[in-house]
Amino acid sequence: MRGSQRKESSITTTQSPQRAVRVRGAARSSQPRGPALFKGVSARSPEVEIREQPNVSEERSPNKNPARRLKQLAAQIRVCTKCPLCHSRTIAVPGEGDPDAEFMIIGEGPGKDEDKTGHPFVGSAGRYLDHVLEGTGIQRSDFFITNIVKCRPPANRTPKGNEIETCITNYLMEQIELIDPHLVLLLGSVAVKTVLSRKSVEEVRGKVIEWEGRRYLATYHPAARFYREDLGAKIAADFGLLKRELKRIQSR
Ligand code: URA
Repeated sequence: MRGSQRKESSITTTQSPQRAVRVRGAARSSQPRGPALFKGVSARSPEVEIREQPNVSEERSPNKNPARRLKQLAAQIRVCTKCPLCHSRTIAVPGEGDPDAEFMIIGEGPGKDEDKTGHPFVGSAGRYLDHVLEGTGIQRSDFFITNIVKCRPPANRTPKGNEIETCITNYLMEQIELIDPHLVLLLGSVAVKTVLSRKSVEEVRGKVIEWEGRRYLATYHPAARFYREDLGAKIAADFGLLKRELKRIQSR
């Protein structure tokens, strides 16, 4: 069982004191783990506290059954009204994949097709994602795929800071902790800025980024390829690196 030897701790923001996201995998790296994964929820922020969490009840102990807790989260996401994006969405898109997946993909947010179906990356960007994944021999089913925000922003605009903050603190952070992936692929600048607090994809692509005890690769959003042909070669190179990394991880 992957999580059995792990040291567990909890993350609590003072903004929502009842909510405790338990951190799995903290013992995996010598680097400090914590909520600095996300912009605005930095470990350096006085609003965040990391503490050991003794006596966690079954109810608040999602790690004991990540699959069940992921389902609960998905159900909450589908009826979520915590940010204004709930008014413009048709169907929220919690994300999908094997709860025990070793790898995770995080995009920006649902587009038109995802909003209609409730599934991530099923439109043209998804088809391009499948195409580049195909070249690597990796299946979609090897990943848990989700987005920074779970509801489509009106006219596909970039999600706003408050929407991102609400969505990641309520859902994405916990999804990552529950899945506890060995590697996370970030697609596009919104995912890179939010998760790694870096300015651009260009700054981080082409190498494995170790950040707060997790390993990340970043590349351009598949949709960017539609209006910038020059990105095709870079995206192909990034997926080549992804393939090598996944093989390396799987052969351990
Ligand atoms: N773009 C994204 O970022 N996510 C999706 O699910 C679809 C398109």
